[in-house]
Amino acid sequence: MGIAQDTRAAVRFSQELYRSKLSTAYHGRIRHDPFARLRLREGRDDPYSVYAELRPRGPLVPTRLGGFGTVDHPTARSVLTSRAFGVRPQAEAPSPTADGVDLSFLDRNEPDHSRLRRVAAPAFSPRMVRGYRSRIEELVTELISQLRTDGATDFVSTFAAPLPIGVITQMFGIDESAGVDTTGFARYGAAIGGALDGIHSLRHARELMQAGEALGQMFEQLFAVRATDPRDDLISVLVAERGEKVRPDELMAMCFLLLVAGFETTVNLLGNALLALLQHPDQWHLLVEQPQLAGAAIEETLRWNPPVQRTERVSFEDQQVAGTPVREGQWIVLLLGGTGRDPQVYPGPDRFDITRSHAAEHLAFSSGIHYCLGAPLARLEATIALEQLANRLPRIRQAGPVTMRPTSIIRGPLHLPVTVG
Ligand code: HEM
Repeated sequence: MGIAQDTRAAVRFSQELYRSKLSTAYHGRIRHDPFARLRLREGRDDPYSVYAELRPRGPLVPTRLGGFGTVDHPTARSVLTSRAFGVRPQAEAPSPTADGVDLSFLDRNEPDHSRLRRVAAPAFSPRMVRGYRSRIEELVTELISQLRTDGATDFVSTFAAPLPIGVITQMFGIDESAGVDTTGFARYGAAIGGALDGIHSLRHARELMQAGEALGQMFEQLFAVRATDPRDDLISVLVAERGEKVRPDELMAMCFLLLVAGFETTVNLLGNALLALLQHPDQWHLLVEQPQLAGAAIEETLRWNPPVQRTERVSFEDQQVAGTPVREGQWIVLLLGGTGRDPQVYPGPDRFDITRSHAAEHLAFSSGIHYCLGAPLARLEATIALEQLANRLPRIRQAGPVTMRPTSIIRGPLHLPVTVG
């Protein structure tokens, strides 16, 4: 691209970003539209009040964009599992999203979705996930030992972020022997992971492009190494399928998806879990007494304050949803964070209770064909982390105000100061 074209693209991008921010501010602040307010600071700080306002308005609430939104658990689940909905209009050819990121099968309808998902699925088989256990345990032990004991430390940057990136590095089979710079991988991975919530500025777009190019080169190098020297890792699984089942460009997009989908989400699950437990000391004490409740505490966190707050589906045909006519091409925003507080499914939904028996029915990992492929890995990682934290740091406490991420799809603490006692 020439400089003039580059400049024109940058100006167009800035204008679109500005227009979208202005429209959100107008609809949120002046017209008090709940869907716009979710993107503003008040909705990001407390989306649950907005969900509570939407609930009495029925299972499907019209949005200002001509679609609908729902916080109703059964309605959201039926849309996510329905074959009459998809992640993009049927007539639209698969292409990278407007911001240039190709999210592989997360962004494909059938039959492409299943063709591509089948290629990555073996890397998440129960056997492969079990194989990650010892590495996760080692990493958690190491990270806990490194937490400073003489003052406050930020739980997110010293624990919640390095753990998933360490696990993903292992999953991809990235080590010095493959000739790849592991710290560069972690840095660029974090930059790309942060893009799940969209692009916020021109500078952000530029950083992403640079990170994307650098990561692309790393993946190319790994593909070449693992084609001749396969190991028991994700890249070797993917490279073996290259050609017949999946084109090289599709393979690259899949690597980006696995990195983006697995990183920021898990960081925020860990942050949300510890934050909820420290803000509910009775629940923390219960976990310290019974660390085997760690898995249940993770499910309750996923219900009560999930890292992914919403997703969307488009209707393939004119149909009725929860008694409301929905036309072909209309979008439904599924407010996953709101579905976890649905009183039809969860009695006393605002209470954080790690002994709750139905917490695992949450939609935090979505449902239907796009159900999170990495869910078993995320659960394993977070459960081991909580178990060890409760065992080894029973006196951990919040040591100052928490700063939340300035994003609305991804929810979790950006900084969580703690003392470990
Ligand atoms: C707490 C952690 C996580 C949460 C809350 C989460 C959440 C989600 C959600 C909500 C979706 C579906 C979006 C939709 O239906 O539109 C999804 C899909 C996906 N996730 Fe996760 N995720 C997590 C961790 C991971 C990890 C660790 C990986 C892999 C390393 C991963 C890989 C994927 C993939 C590949 C998809 C696409 C599935 C498909 O389209 O068929 N996720 N995740």
